[in-house]
Amino acid sequence: MNSNKLELTLELVRDYANNDLKHFTDIVRTAFTDVDPVFLRPRYDKFFWHCAGSVPGWMAQVVLANADAESDGSNKLLKLWQSVNYNEFIEEKVLFHAKDEARHSRLFVKLTRMAFPSLIGKKEENAKKDSLVRITKDMLIKSEFIVNELTLIDNLVQMNMGEIRTRLHMELLGPAIHAFSPENSKSKVKAILNGLSHDEVVHISYIASLIESWCETGDKKQLLILYRNRLQDFHEFTIRQTESAVNSYGAGRFPDLLEI
Ligand SMILES: [Fe+2]
Ligand SMILES: [Fe+2]
Repeated sequence: MNSNKLELTLELVRDYANNDLKHFTDIVRTAFTDVDPVFLRPRYDKFFWHCAGSVPGWMAQVVLANADAESDGSNKLLKLWQSVNYNEFIEEKVLFHAKDEARHSRLFVKLTRMAFPSLIGKKEENAKKDSLVRITKDMLIKSEFIVNELTLIDNLVQMNMGEIRTRLHMELLGPAIHAFSPENSKSKVKAILNGLSHDEVVHISYIASLIESWCETGDKKQLLILYRNRLQDFHEFTIRQTESAVNSYGAGRFPDLLEI
């Protein structure tokens, strides 16, 4: 496992949260060591660069797929906000987060066009943007189905892990997008990428701070079990997501990436 990458993200999160996040750091480190998720293995990076360098159009598709992932994330967060009515602090953070992800989804479309202007035109850019989640005032209505606190914690743990994975992915994706970008777009592309990475640290931090305080007052052992189980789910989900690319483009060299 590439633990340096994880440690860098954890350090940025602690700095932003202005908290040593002792328990959170411990939970994340233990879960990542136990599960050894595929997306943190050096072989995963190697496969990424193999595809980026040898499959025409693959990079552009990957960047564009991030727009959908961010849009889905925004939708899930909005649904979570709609189903909580008993914790104003969390509701406010989750709604801010949902709006951020909706904005990110459009930024990824913009990035795709900036980095690959020959593959996506203005018309496609606008059509894609229109298909993504946009949070409007009329959506800000609470649902009849309010989740209990345990379900809320479970949802936030899953979000947190997803955010860590996104932040780790950005370290892989960012330099590649930058490398593919035409010379005259590079500085703008870099500014967008830095903004995206920073926002992910912000998203990880508020949930990390919540987890830290739950560990102080609640059952840390249970939280670790939850974190580890959800990370295992995420690891398997990433394998399923990578499977068709490994089979199509791996030239038989990356079967280990599909081992659970
Ligand atoms: Fe995001
Ligand atoms: Fe995020």
